[in-house]
Amino acid sequence: MKRFLLGIVLSVALIGCTDREQPTARTAAGKQAAADVRAGKAFAERECKGCHGLNGAGTAPAIPHLAGQRERYLLAALQAYKEGKRTHAALREVAGHMTETDMRNLAAYYAGLPPIAAAPGKDAQLVSPYEKGKALAAACVKCHGEDGNSRNPGTPSLAGQQPRYFVVAIQEYLNAERKKAPMHSMLSGLSKQDMESLALYFASQTPAQRAAPPAGDPVAGEPLSAVCGGCHGPNGVSTDTATPSLAGQDFRYLVDAVKAYRTTRKRENMRIYVTGLGDKDIENIAAFYSVQKSRAAEKGQTIVQDLTEKCNRCHAPGVDVPAMAVPKINGQDRDYLIMALRAYRDDRRESSMMHKMTLPYGDAIIESVSSFYSSQPAK
Ligand code: HEC
Ligand code: HEC
Ligand code: HEC
Ligand code: HEC
Repeated sequence: MKRFLLGIVLSVALIGCTDREQPTARTAAGKQAAADVRAGKAFAERECKGCHGLNGAGTAPAIPHLAGQRERYLLAALQAYKEGKRTHAALREVAGHMTETDMRNLAAYYAGLPPIAAAPGKDAQLVSPYEKGKALAAACVKCHGEDGNSRNPGTPSLAGQQPRYFVVAIQEYLNAERKKAPMHSMLSGLSKQDMESLALYFASQTPAQRAAPPAGDPVAGEPLSAVCGGCHGPNGVSTDTATPSLAGQDFRYLVDAVKAYRTTRKRENMRIYVTGLGDKDIENIAAFYSVQKSRAAEKGQTIVQDLTEKCNRCHAPGVDVPAMAVPKINGQDRDYLIMALRAYRDDRRESSMMHKMTLPYGDAIIESVSSFYSSQPAK
């Protein structure tokens, strides 16, 4: 008799769950009655259809597809709106007057629908930020050198430079916080994504080793550099994306840059370290840094691929992490994915884990990863 009952329970569970759904959602629901898919559909017809369709396809960009999404995740998302953990106004309003049963019915309804096929041509937008940066860099290399290794005294190398610093540096020229440089006019046409793509491209190039500098004494510069290493890294190879590497930099540029902190470049945390230095000291420090060996700061060539491998540990189709309500993201609307990832990164959407996953990434990479996932077939 026991065996017979178990058989019924199991087969009901199997009918109720799609093959994509882990049975844990049901067991977690404990003794609650099975969700009523028809009631869920009727509710969706009244309150959700305008935005999510009855087929679960977002009716406009940035509205997520719900069809075939994990039931457990849909339920968790609705609860998060109801409890105010997710803040979208329309959804808080809708979820606010739902009962627990309404939510379970709606989650079951949308989870049971066939997933939305990725729109054809979507992968046309799959642009690697590295390739984009490489194309844009053609306009820079005549001064900054092939692959960003400058051979012009006074013009900095960009190869191996830290990417967040790189973007800030461009913004400093645009805001006239730095003295107008010859390339100033061409920078104003760049979007934020362009700047990030350029930063990624140059950060990924290998800095060339430099010959002895025209002036200064590297040996005398080494002890003076001790106070700089805490921020600029051992031998000037920075490990912080917002602090520039100095290793392998052009000698003349380093001298000018240090002196500029006394006058035009307004960074208090830099100025205090260089105001006490005499001109000879500055030459010696610059000589020391210019001959240090540096290295690429990023692996931009494979960054999107490497990243999606990390994401796939939780988000690959077929993978489920029972301890978490992980959404499926393959085939999801691209604009919605971009918005969601930026919200995690900028702490506008709660999830400490997704915040950590997205924190280091600029918009160019977020857009590229989003294009990748939205172009994947949903399963
Ligand atoms: C006015 C348009 C609108 C209506 C009506 C609406 N939604 Fe949404 N829905 C959205 C938007 C936009 C988002 C993304 C909001 C965000 O960024 O948190 C969303 C997000 C969601 C999510 C989270 C999806 C995810 O991948 O995280 C769920 C679940 C959801 N809606 C279910 C519903 C249900 C069920 C109804 C009807 C009871 C409904 N929505 C009505 C626009 C709407
Ligand atoms: C006409 C020559 C020229 C061209 C073309 C040029 N630059 Fe420059 N760039 C310079 C010079 C000179 C400096 C140093 C200016 C200074 O002293 O602040 C510089 C400085 C920079 C810096 C600051 C580096 C640092 O270490 O702080 C960045 C970033 C930069 N350029 C990016 C670019 C990008 C991106 C392009 C192409 C879109 C470009 N430049 C094109 C000459 C050029
Ligand atoms: C407290 C951290 C810190 C210390 C210590 C420090 N720096 Fe810096 N340095 C920075 C930061 C951050 C920037 C970027 C500031 C900006 O955006 O202009 C910078 C910028 C520079 C630049 C400009 C690089 C470029 O590519 O334009 C030079 C050169 C430099 N520092 C040299 C030094 C030297 C030499 C010392 C030691 C005498 C030193 N710094 C000590 C944090 C530090
Ligand atoms: C350790 C598991 C894990 C990893 C690794 C992970 N995620 Fe997530 N992801 C989650 C969980 C859990 C949620 C749901 C969080 C919530 O409730 O807001 C989520 C939510 C999301 C969402 C929101 C989807 C929606 O429908 O609203 C997106 C987009 C996303 N992740 C993309 C990524 C990307 C891109 C990466 C790699 C950079 C990544 N995730 C890495 C577990 C993970």
